[in-house]
Amino acid sequence: MPDDLASIFPAEFVWGAATASYQIEGAATEDGRGESIWDRFSATPGKVRTGDTGLVACDFYHRYREDIALLRELGLDAFRFSIAWPRILPEGRGRVNQAGLDFYDRVVDELLANDIEPFVTLYHWDLPQALEDQGGWVSRETVDAFCEYAQVVAERLGDRVGRWITHNEPRVASWAGYGSGAHAPGRRSKSDATAAAHHLLLSHGRAVEILRDAAPKATVGITLNLHSVQADGDDESAAEVARRIDGGDNRWFLDPIFRGEYPTDVLELLGDAAPPVEEGDLAAISTPLDFLGVNNYSRLVIGGGGKPLRNSNAVYTDMDWEVYPDGLYEVLVRLRDEYAVPTIYVTENGAAFGDIRGHDGEVLDPERQDYLEGYIRAVGRAVQAGVPVSGYFVWSFLDNFEWAHGYSKRFGIVYVDYPTLDRVPKGSFHWYGDLIRRHRAAASPAAQTG
Ligand code: FCB
Repeated sequence: MPDDLASIFPAEFVWGAATASYQIEGAATEDGRGESIWDRFSATPGKVRTGDTGLVACDFYHRYREDIALLRELGLDAFRFSIAWPRILPEGRGRVNQAGLDFYDRVVDELLANDIEPFVTLYHWDLPQALEDQGGWVSRETVDAFCEYAQVVAERLGDRVGRWITHNEPRVASWAGYGSGAHAPGRRSKSDATAAAHHLLLSHGRAVEILRDAAPKATVGITLNLHSVQADGDDESAAEVARRIDGGDNRWFLDPIFRGEYPTDVLELLGDAAPPVEEGDLAAISTPLDFLGVNNYSRLVIGGGGKPLRNSNAVYTDMDWEVYPDGLYEVLVRLRDEYAVPTIYVTENGAAFGDIRGHDGEVLDPERQDYLEGYIRAVGRAVQAGVPVSGYFVWSFLDNFEWAHGYSKRFGIVYVDYPTLDRVPKGSFHWYGDLIRRHRAAASPAAQTG
């Protein structure tokens, strides 16, 4: 592999940055937006660190022009953002709020005017609270509500948006939202979690067709968070636990989407908590996709006794996640070998570190730069091994509301000074922009013939 990272990737490789509505927009009560489960959850004492909420967040709602100018400065090909369902249908279904659609209309136009391709995620966890009050994702009716929402958005933006991601990380939305309760809506029930996961997947499958019909240019995918789960050494209990975790975290989502079935070993373990699958559900869930989005940050190693193992030689991020770029490579190769995935985008990858703004106003983040370089190199290795990876999105463009951690974790390549909301591009921003420029130069016809 060439030393120069920029020359590894094919000319058409897409460089992007990713965000999500609740994490950046703020303006939570403006222009007719309804309440979301994250508004309710973060307003509940004890749920989010230091009581942080998304009420203001990065104020992207008002500052999107300035932010898109920064994306342009970075030289990005694509920007991944999500739509807040409660801005579009404040009660979850029925009444459409035009002001909400208008906002995303402006964002899309501003991106296109700057030559940046929008990658739109329909659901990045901010369910309208009104739907949660009627059962949330545990209820099958929420699938119909999601289809209604997908239709409304696709009709409005589909003439200009070509890339659609139905859901972001259904595993986290279901297990953390309905199983462990660490995320909104904060329920704690195994069978609620599996029902929620199933309905998220079903709503994905149904929405694929809706998007293709309503948005003529649509190429459609879903984003899963996948990680490599490894057993340390030959310990049998470690291998068994690793297989179990891989089943729940990875195969539980990949198998229905790409094979039309849930993994039998996980179904057996679930017993009575297995999801309420009806006839035709798995056929809908396995509707062929144009691409798969992959979010990956770290790996999991299981040691003796089936306990997670800490690697004393490794660097850990501020989330306490091990820096392990080979894990992303392993995930990508597996998607080709075991699931024959046609096209992959890495839709999130990045790192939180405790960034500090110096007296000179600058933010230097060499750890993040190293992290990104290592992981992008791993993506390059996968591309060279013939895995069909078409693009890479750094998480995240801006420091933002990191769910139950509030504002305490900074993932951005742009620092957000929360008291003033000033944006300060970090060292990693300049490094990433430089990589993108060098890639373009290496890929230009002049460079190839010259
Ligand atoms: C992913 C989420 C994203 C962000 C990163 C750090 O699980 O999709 O919103 O919180 O983790």
